Amino acid sequence: MMREADALSLLMTERTGYSLSRACYTDSGLFRIEMERIFGREWLFAAPACEIAGAGDFVTLQIGDWGVIVVRGADGAIRAFHNSCRHRGSRLCSVRRGSNPKLVCPYHQWTYELDGRLLWARDMGPDFDPARHGLHPVHCREAGGLVFICLADTPPAFDAFGEQVARYLAPHRLADARIAHESTIVENGNWKLVIENNRECYHCAGSHPSLCRTYSDDPLITGSGGEMPAAVSEHWVRCEAAGLPSTFVLGPDAGWRLARMPLMGRAESFTMDGQVAVKRPLGEVPIRDAGTLLLFHYPNTWNHFLSDHAVVFRVTPLTPTTTEVTTKWLVHKDAVEGVDYDLKRLTEVWTHTNDEDRRVVEENQIGINSPAYVPGPYSAVQEAGVMQFLDWYRETMLRGLTGRGLVAAE
Ligand code: FES
Ligand SMILES: [Fe+2]
Repeated sequence: MMREADALSLLMTERTGYSLSRACYTDSGLFRIEMERIFGREWLFAAPACEIAGAGDFVTLQIGDWGVIVVRGADGAIRAFHNSCRHRGSRLCSVRRGSNPKLVCPYHQWTYELDGRLLWARDMGPDFDPARHGLHPVHCREAGGLVFICLADTPPAFDAFGEQVARYLAPHRLADARIAHESTIVENGNWKLVIENNRECYHCAGSHPSLCRTYSDDPLITGSGGEMPAAVSEHWVRCEAAGLPSTFVLGPDAGWRLARMPLMGRAESFTMDGQVAVKRPLGEVPIRDAGTLLLFHYPNTWNHFLSDHAVVFRVTPLTPTTTEVTTKWLVHKDAVEGVDYDLKRLTEVWTHTNDEDRRVVEENQIGINSPAYVPGPYSAVQEAGVMQFLDWYRETMLRGLTGRGLVAAE
C-alpha cells in the first residue's frame, strides 16, 4: 500500500501524454491519499438545490469516511454539516434524503436546529453548554441552483466559478426544477477512469448509438477547448444574440469549464428523435435548438443543460476500483409525467449511455489490473480533454502533497 512519499515520486515520474501506471488505478494507499488531498479539499457537487426546496429538506452524502448532511434551514439558507452527532458521534441521518423540522440523533435523541445549533440534550447536567456542541459545519455554496460543498478547513476560491455558473445557468431557472428521475449505478472502475472516459468522445461512435444520434463526437466539443469549428462559433453567436451565455469559459486552474455546444443537425434535446422531451420546458431558453450547456467541475461532476430539461451527474469514489455515478433528470416542477413528458423518452438516451460507459470503464479497469498493462499513449487529436484532466489531477495531488504545484516541484 502506497505511502505519501511513494505517491509523490510516482506522480513526478508519470509520463505526460500517457495513461497512468497501474498503481494509480488500483492502489488503496493512493486512493486514500486522493480522498484526503482531492475529495477532502476541493469543492464537490452535492445536489441540485431543488432537491431540498423546503425548510427541513435534507440530502446526505458519503465521501470516503466523511458523512455530510446538506439541509435547508427555516430561513431558506442551505447549510452543510458533518453527519456525526456531537454526543458520542453516531450518524445522525442514515437515509439519502428526507425532511425533518429538526435534526434528531436516533441514538439518544440529541436534537439540533436546522442551522446546526444544539437545541435539546436530556440530563446533561448544569455545567453542560449546548452552545459548544452544535454540529460541525461543512463549507457549502449554491450557484445557479447547484449546491457544492468543501470539506477543507480553508476551501479553495469559489466566487469566480459561482458567478459564471450563476450567469450561464440563469436562463435554465433551476429554482423552478424538480427531479423527474434519478439513477445510481456502481461502476467497477477507478474514479479517474470514469472521468477520463467522460472527457473524450473517441469511444462514442463505437459505444453510444443512442447518444450519437444527437451529440457530436467531434473532439473539440467534449475536449479541452482551443480553436472551435465554425459551426460552434456560429452557434455561440446565435445563442448569445438570444441572450444565452454560451462561449467557452475555463477556470483559472482548468478545474472547471462551461460552454454551450450545438447538438447535431440542430437537434433540440437528448432524445432518440432529437425533438424536445418535455413540452413544459424548464427555464426560459428562447430557442429550442440551443444545444447543451456543458458544465464540468473536477473532480466529481459533469452536467448538461438543455432547452427543455437538465441532466446532472455526480461521481463518488467508493474504493480504488469502484465508483458510484448518480444521474438526476430535472424538469420544470409543474411538468406532469404522461402529459408533458414520457419518462422513458426523457431518460432513455442517458440511461443507455451511462450503462455503455459503465461497461467500457469496467473493461478498462480489468485490462489495467493485468500485470502486463503498461501505460499507453493518448491521441492528441481525440483525447486532449483526458490529458487536461490528468494534468489537473497531478497538479492537484502534488499541490496537496507538497504545498506546491508541479512546476514548483520539478
Ligand atoms: S450519539 Fe447522538 S444522541 Fe447520543
Ligand atoms: Fe461515453
